[in-house]
Amino acid sequence: MIKKISVRQLKPGMFVHDMDCGWMEHPFLTGSFKIRSEKDIGQMIAYGIRELYIDSEKGLDASDAPTKKEVETSIARQMEVVFENVKSLDPTSLQEETGRAKIVLVEASKIVGDLMQGARLGRQIEQEQIDPIVSKMSDSILRNKDALLSLCRIKEKDNYTFLHSVSVGALLMCFTRAFDLKPGDMQLVGIGGMLHDIGKTMVPDRILNKAGELTLDEFTTMKMHVLYGQNILSDTPGITQTSFDVVAQHHERYDGSGYPLKLKGSEMSIYGQMASIVDVYDAITSDRCYRKAMDPTVALRKMFEWSKLHFDPGLIQTFVRTIGIYPIGTLVLLESGKIAVVIDQQGRDLTRPLVRAIFDSRKSCYISPEDVDLSKPLGQGGGDRIVSHEAAAKWNIDPHQFI
Ligand SMILES: [Fe+2]
Repeated sequence: MIKKISVRQLKPGMFVHDMDCGWMEHPFLTGSFKIRSEKDIGQMIAYGIRELYIDSEKGLDASDAPTKKEVETSIARQMEVVFENVKSLDPTSLQEETGRAKIVLVEASKIVGDLMQGARLGRQIEQEQIDPIVSKMSDSILRNKDALLSLCRIKEKDNYTFLHSVSVGALLMCFTRAFDLKPGDMQLVGIGGMLHDIGKTMVPDRILNKAGELTLDEFTTMKMHVLYGQNILSDTPGITQTSFDVVAQHHERYDGSGYPLKLKGSEMSIYGQMASIVDVYDAITSDRCYRKAMDPTVALRKMFEWSKLHFDPGLIQTFVRTIGIYPIGTLVLLESGKIAVVIDQQGRDLTRPLVRAIFDSRKSCYISPEDVDLSKPLGQGGGDRIVSHEAAAKWNIDPHQFI
């Protein structure tokens, strides 16, 4: 049985099923193994692991620990409360915005690519290079955030670093909509997001692109990208403290388990805290050479679960409300037995989005695509409801083909 325990309950002889850690540049990429000694446990604590899942059938048990199922049920219940009566803020439909967002994304990726290439060659960054594109991104997000966000999710291996930077910038700008920030702060946070990993240009390619586990030394070198990024920004005229905080604190964690300064709670700025959330969310919802992407709904549940330790719980609630319980491209099972893709949230209650039914789960066959507005009753294009989120891999369906 899979059970959740604190790292302090871990004993030699227990079998680690999943380390439940959200940061990706981690030396323990293969998460399943038997604990052989106290040294293994000490190393896990040193890396910041606080909670994990064990398999009681493959090793020693922790009798009073909750099962994975119990943990997941409790998280799902807590998340339902978070989404009660939350409506999307987007004034424009996804369909209307997608064309414009595509153009913005191409331009943003090129600019980030050029900036990173320049930084690698020791060229100074000019903030004027990035200001206009960040304004275009924020305009697109204010019209319909899902257009840019859903496009950002598709990352090829070759353009991962650029698109991850653009995506973190876009996600951060969306996140700021939930706060009463000063005018212009949305763009400053976005600039920080676009440049958050600029320090990776100073990390050797053999470490940056390594497919297997990082050694301890390689992990230490990788972590240096935050300090390199701070140095690059310190040499950039006009960079504000807001943008700087995003770069400097995106790997800090609420419980002090992050790096480089092991800042805790309010020692981190609000922008640094937001960046740490967004960076993890984007990384775990993207395909990497060593790991398949998590479905966004599953990722949000994991972030919620981690919020007890790594992130401020209140801020995570705001973040999941920003993204929505069923982000665009999520596969859902409807009460009618149809499998559908979430295609728009605009103006709707986030638990009742516009979906495109594409598959009959009872007959196990594709059907002619049919749009169903779950906020409307039967007879007005609705009349169905979501029973559960479905993993795209389980049905072997690529939801993005249907958006
Ligand atoms: Fe980073």
